[in-house]
Amino acid sequence: MKYVVANWKMYTDTRGGIALTREIVRRYRGKETMPEVVVCPGFLALGEIKKVISRGRMHIGAQDVFWMDDGPHTGSVAPKMLKEIGCEYVIVGHSERRQELGETNEMIARKIDAAVKAGLKAILCVGENLEERENGSMEKVVEFELRGALEKISSRSMESVIIAYEPIWALSEKGHGSASVQDVLDALSFVRKMLVDISAKGGKDVSLLYGGSVDMENAYSFLREDSIDGVLVGSASVKINHICGIIDSALKAMRV
Ligand code: PGA
Repeated sequence: MKYVVANWKMYTDTRGGIALTREIVRRYRGKETMPEVVVCPGFLALGEIKKVISRGRMHIGAQDVFWMDDGPHTGSVAPKMLKEIGCEYVIVGHSERRQELGETNEMIARKIDAAVKAGLKAILCVGENLEERENGSMEKVVEFELRGALEKISSRSMESVIIAYEPIWALSEKGHGSASVQDVLDALSFVRKMLVDISAKGGKDVSLLYGGSVDMENAYSFLREDSIDGVLVGSASVKINHICGIIDSALKAMRV
């Protein structure tokens, strides 16, 4: 199984998201086998998009979640609210939230814990910035983020965790292009080692994704690798030809 996770960020509104989703559903109607396609629109569009995907074979995810289930938390969205609307996945710890909103490992750990307890699958993003890559501290950063977010998670809950290695310097907004396949394989093999160290039982089966300037041109080079379970796609995921090209690459990698 391969994952194609579309992180729509703030790139599209509800109307745009519905149109995009309808078109993806239309193009793959009747297809028996599909990769695990997860679209992650903004909170306001989740309910409407859910209605559209129920006619196709896709899933929805949120781009964030809060760690409490109810109470006085103005502006926050609880895990159970996401479940209620039919969400199955949630992205946690994206570098844009770490940087723009000051999310810490501790907050991310609480979010993951609350999300998996509520029955959501948490996609945890980790990855280094350009300076950290250049001074050789990728492993140090990734270890810090993985341990910080997961050390309190039980080995059973690890079943509901997915890791996305997303080096910040490779995000499309930065304009440097994607990481090389070899960079990603090296980073993911380190991620796997860390996961097994954190949870000998749960760590070996966690799915590992790559994110950072993935598009229809390069998706297959990542997806064909056995140790890359899928891709997390930002800007290209709101372009219909790109997202479908990436889904086609996942189908090819799954040999269907
Ligand atoms: P990008 O974003 O594909 O635009 O680089 C990926 C992400 O931030 O999840």
